Amino acid sequence: MSNQQEVEVSYDVGNEFFRLWLDEKMNYTCGNWDGVDTLEAAQVAKLEWHARAANVGPGKRLLDIGCGWGANLEYQTRVKGCTDAVGITLSRSQCEEVNRRNLPGVAAKVCDYRDFRPDFKFDSVISICMMEHIATPEEVREGKHIGLYRDFFRRIHGWTNPGASFGLQTILRNRVPRIKEDLEDIGFVTYKIFPGGLSLRLEDIIKAVNPYWEITEVYTRREDYEKTCAEWLARLRKHEGTIRAQWGDVVFDDYDRYLRTCVRGFHMHYQSLAQYVLRRID
Ligand SMILES: C[S@@+](CC[C@H](N)C(=O)[O-])C[C@H]1O[C@@H](n2cnc3c(N)ncnc32)[C@H](O)[C@@H]1O
Repeated sequence: MSNQQEVEVSYDVGNEFFRLWLDEKMNYTCGNWDGVDTLEAAQVAKLEWHARAANVGPGKRLLDIGCGWGANLEYQTRVKGCTDAVGITLSRSQCEEVNRRNLPGVAAKVCDYRDFRPDFKFDSVISICMMEHIATPEEVREGKHIGLYRDFFRRIHGWTNPGASFGLQTILRNRVPRIKEDLEDIGFVTYKIFPGGLSLRLEDIIKAVNPYWEITEVYTRREDYEKTCAEWLARLRKHEGTIRAQWGDVVFDDYDRYLRTCVRGFHMHYQSLAQYVLRRID
């Protein structure tokens, strides 16, 4: 499990840094590119996908686990009319940004999901690319990951009402690279950019949801994530001068290498992305 210090390595480089190269609402995950051609529209389409998956709507209470900078919380309350939306993140900078936006119906806090004790039960849950932080590479090697993922699903079951819906999104690790440089680059991203975490395998989710959640739909979006990362990389490079001046050469060079690695990783099938519709088993 990534601890708070490790999560802050990944997300607390600076809100203004991420604002330069993410979309305007700062979604830091794959967008849905069907029929759209801008990053902004792809991110909205992704949030709309999760609204349907989690059955969000007026009068519903939503939990967003790993809420990032609050793009999903904002969308589900402002656009979909969700009444109470609670977001948890381990990053203090992200939480500050959500609270700075002062979004009606939204409450965000810095909280590890393992310490979360909700004041009420939820009808809808969304978790977009947070599960990658649950098991460390060492825990995966020791075979402890399925138990950790199952514990995550068990907790969420306990925080929800009967009939609850859950929109889940995870990065997948698929093929193992056979090229030395690609292996080194993936190691760099795993240990330097996202320490303490590891992307999942599709079969991990299939094993771990039982006996708490039924999977009713799964979509993979490998090419969508390649496209999202390519767009992030182009925007990062557009701001190279500013980033080098304000955050230093190491930050620019590391992020350039990380995003290049992701574009290639999705292209080469080393990685993919999955979106799931889950229904609570009552
Ligand atoms: C890749 S970001 C995704 C953010 C957001 N869902 C989005 O789509 O932009 C992963 C998120 O998971 C959060 N996270 C990681 N470990 C966590 C934990 N143990 N408890 C709660 N949140 C956690 C991070 O703080 C971050 O907000």
